[in-house]
Amino acid sequence: MPDPLALVPLPQSVVWSEGVWETSDPWEGLSVGLNEDLPPTEYTLSISPAGAALSAGSEAALADGRNTFAQIVTGTHGAIPCVTISDAPRYAWRGMHLDVSRHFLPAAEIETLIDAMALHRLNVLHLHLTDDQGWRIEIKGYPRLTEIGGRREQTLIGHMGDDEEAWTFDGTPHGGSYTQEELAGLIEYARRRGIMVVPEIDLPGHLQAAVAAYPELGNFPDQRVGVREVWGISDHVLGVSDEVFDFLRDVLTQVADLFPAPYVHIGGDECPRVEWERSPAARARMNEWGYTRVSEIQGHFTQFAADVLAEKGKRIIAWDEVLESHLPDDTVIMNWRHGNGIAESTSRGFRTIIANNEHTYFDHYQATPAEEPLAIGGHTTVKDVYTAKLTPKKLGEDQEKLLIGVQGQLWTEYMPDAAQVQYMAFPRMCALAERAWGSPEQSWEEFEERLRAHLPRLDAFGIRYRPLD
Ligand code: ACM
Repeated sequence: MPDPLALVPLPQSVVWSEGVWETSDPWEGLSVGLNEDLPPTEYTLSISPAGAALSAGSEAALADGRNTFAQIVTGTHGAIPCVTISDAPRYAWRGMHLDVSRHFLPAAEIETLIDAMALHRLNVLHLHLTDDQGWRIEIKGYPRLTEIGGRREQTLIGHMGDDEEAWTFDGTPHGGSYTQEELAGLIEYARRRGIMVVPEIDLPGHLQAAVAAYPELGNFPDQRVGVREVWGISDHVLGVSDEVFDFLRDVLTQVADLFPAPYVHIGGDECPRVEWERSPAARARMNEWGYTRVSEIQGHFTQFAADVLAEKGKRIIAWDEVLESHLPDDTVIMNWRHGNGIAESTSRGFRTIIANNEHTYFDHYQATPAEEPLAIGGHTTVKDVYTAKLTPKKLGEDQEKLLIGVQGQLWTEYMPDAAQVQYMAFPRMCALAERAWGSPEQSWEEFEERLRAHLPRLDAFGIRYRPLD
């Protein structure tokens, strides 16, 4: 039975008291109400022998309180300890990223992840819907995106060494996509659990699957490329024709209409410029736009996407590479490359989400590689996630205020199915949740003890995880 004292994440203030509340249906016995006297981020939960009451300053805080309640009651079998909790999160954005391009994950499996996120009071699911290896979202008027772009013929086996001759493939097609209707269902499922789904349409690179579906979107329309079957970074990025920008407008407009979140993530990471350098059309466009550097083409895409989304009342989020060009003031930067990026983005006044690849990339090995399933590389233990410094040493107070969140990343090159996604996510996600929530700091040993007692809750939810050492 899970130990109700082992809350992960730990609320800001928890006072346990004598006695238990005996109930066969705690959810039935929970009274819930908004309280306008509380700040919008705050909830209070009290459990006494007579029953349980939850009040909060907003619907979002109510969801947080419900999720804490779920932690307490999971597995308690009718005898719930009495407690008073008052609580508010440190970060507004407590995210998990999930790449459904490299490996497609059925919507039901995403729902399971959403349930687990809610249990940990994480509140943003960042869905990476498109990439070189697969386009996963239905866009009306562009059926080939999912028919052609949503399927690759085969997938690289093992690591992608430099010697192409040595690459071997599984010979098995891999594909899948979500209709807009299915995504709407997922968005609603998440909303009911206090989680906002933020879509990512990565551009102008990481789009080979779209170019495979519609060659006219590329830089050399006579060149045929397939959906990418290996990992790494593709040189086949978007071209610069009017057709490309019409396409982007259609895609971003449909995405903005489908996802109620006020943000759309437009990627912007790892966009090679070799095709633009070789392309006479790109050169001509640079002259027309008055650019002298090829890198400015990416800035043009960023601004275009921001303008289209602004018409829909949405702001852009992008990976930190976009700092290389001029940006709209309300851009949110997702910092993944190195801590200096956080210093730069916040010194330039951009709100920033901490997603650094040293400590928040859950595609890295979580123990000695020889003892673990194949992963992309790296080595990030659950202890690292709990204890590592996530921000640069010297940030001014104004800069600290611009840090709006923390997020874990699940890139799925080496996660072919839900079981592997869960194994890589947990228990690291539990440690991340504490940091995102801003739980009172404890030693690793104290956290580990609580985590050990928390793991049966994951069992109760049917979640696979890497056992603690
Ligand atoms: C990234 O890992 N390319 C954002």
